[in-house]
Amino acid sequence: MKAATIHFEVISSVLDQYLKNNRYSTLFFLVDEMTHFHCLPLLLADLDHLDAYEILEIESGEEHKTIETVKNLWLALTELGADRDTLVINLGGGVLTDMGGFMASTFKRGVKFINIPTTLLSMVDASAGGKNGVDLEGMKNMVGTFTQPEMVLIDPKFLKTLDPRQVKSGLAEMLKHGLIYDRDHWDNLVQLLQHDAESLAPFIMDSIFIKQAVVDLDPYEKGKRKILNFGHTIGHAIESESLETDFPLLHGEAIVIGMLIEAFLSHQKNLLPTEDLVEVCEGFESIYALSAIDLKLFPNLMGWMKHDKKNTGSAINFSLIDQIGQCQFNIACTENEIKEAFENYNEWIG
Ligand SMILES: NC(=O)c1ccc[n+]([C@@H]2O[C@H](COP(=O)([O-])OP(=O)(O)OC[C@H]3O[C@@H](n4cnc5c(N)ncnc54)[C@H](O)[C@@H]3O)[C@@H](O)[C@H]2O)c1
Repeated sequence: MKAATIHFEVISSVLDQYLKNNRYSTLFFLVDEMTHFHCLPLLLADLDHLDAYEILEIESGEEHKTIETVKNLWLALTELGADRDTLVINLGGGVLTDMGGFMASTFKRGVKFINIPTTLLSMVDASAGGKNGVDLEGMKNMVGTFTQPEMVLIDPKFLKTLDPRQVKSGLAEMLKHGLIYDRDHWDNLVQLLQHDAESLAPFIMDSIFIKQAVVDLDPYEKGKRKILNFGHTIGHAIESESLETDFPLLHGEAIVIGMLIEAFLSHQKNLLPTEDLVEVCEGFESIYALSAIDLKLFPNLMGWMKHDKKNTGSAINFSLIDQIGQCQFNIACTENEIKEAFENYNEWIG
């Protein structure tokens, strides 16, 4: 699977050329209510080679990342005459690009799609790499495909309207890229005085290069690509559990806690030295408001973890860091070891 080309900043001219040079029967923009309002006008204003198009709007939010939403989209495509030469342009955050990619890669056995990410998280992570899909009864990304978009068009101008809480959520995946692959990237991000969209924009490409480098080595996640899941085994469980409450965490917020607990686990497994663990803890603490995890939830969280796609047989497999900037994968951990990591995290939080 060849990685999609990523274009940065001058995206309208690239898209314009693509629309001019490529044949497609019908064109669909997939948006949610936020990207319809904030982002679509910005994009359309600069396109000269745009003929007829349709807009498909979905409701934003992880709770809508379901097969029901995709089914409604498949029906809408059918009613609006989409065929195998249809082109779909996904304009939105990671929920939308994950779902839009899945919708397009399965409709009539696959139509072409372009991702235009509009959140920091989708720019640095979700929109590239070819993974897409939906959640199943709260279980994260259980159904999906590996299909590359035609291209990914990234323009930080979209971030101007993004909620600061969402910016910090996206930063979580950037910090992950540093922790698993490049200490300098981690240092650069942690040392910033402000963690707003403007300050983070110069580091977006560094994160994208890391993600692409890892995906290129192992597009179908048979081995090395699993390092991108650092923080996600526990983070996804926390996210799934929180989605059942009235105050759900954002994806990146859950992944921050997941990375911290998995850093403690890395230390317990004699991988991560104490000085690096301290640096990881202090780095996250300087950026995020953190709180303890209620251990009464631990059985539920284990339940979610048992569905993790990296597991083989009964072992829960983790990707764990052995220093800042380096990660190992397929590290099997027992329930007791995982519980101890939660306890160590809670003790550190105090
Ligand atoms: N496929 C992958 O490799 C991969 C990697 C990481 C994360 N993910 C997935 O990404 C999802 C999280 O993505 P996310 O954090 O982008 O969340 P999101 O897609 O829910 O977007 C967050 C919110 O921001 C709004 N929004 C989007 N762009 C905006 C803009 N420019 N201005 C104002 N509001 C805007 C959206 O409407 C939404 O309300 C999760 O489902 C996660 O599983 C996928």
